[in-house]
Amino acid sequence: MTAWQNKPFKIEVKKNQSLSFCSCGFSEDAPYCDNSHKKRKLKITPFIIHFTKDETIYACGCRYSHNRPYCDGTHKTLKNKEA
Ligand code: FES
Repeated sequence: MTAWQNKPFKIEVKKNQSLSFCSCGFSEDAPYCDNSHKKRKLKITPFIIHFTKDETIYACGCRYSHNRPYCDGTHKTLKNKEA
């Protein structure tokens, strides 16, 4: 179980790997989907990303990025908000 945080998650991904990232913000396994959206009957789906090369990504940990599931730096403006 991983909690949301006020900084990005650095993730090493592999070529041909697919990951499912939380889009509802209720996952208890941030930044990944844990099907919390289904438990809450939300009509949204996770971000499913297929990677085509080995690379390092920075997944949003604060849930406020405008480019989720990726960090866009918005967390730096959230000094008074809890992630
Ligand atoms: S962690 Fe950087 S925008 Fe959310």
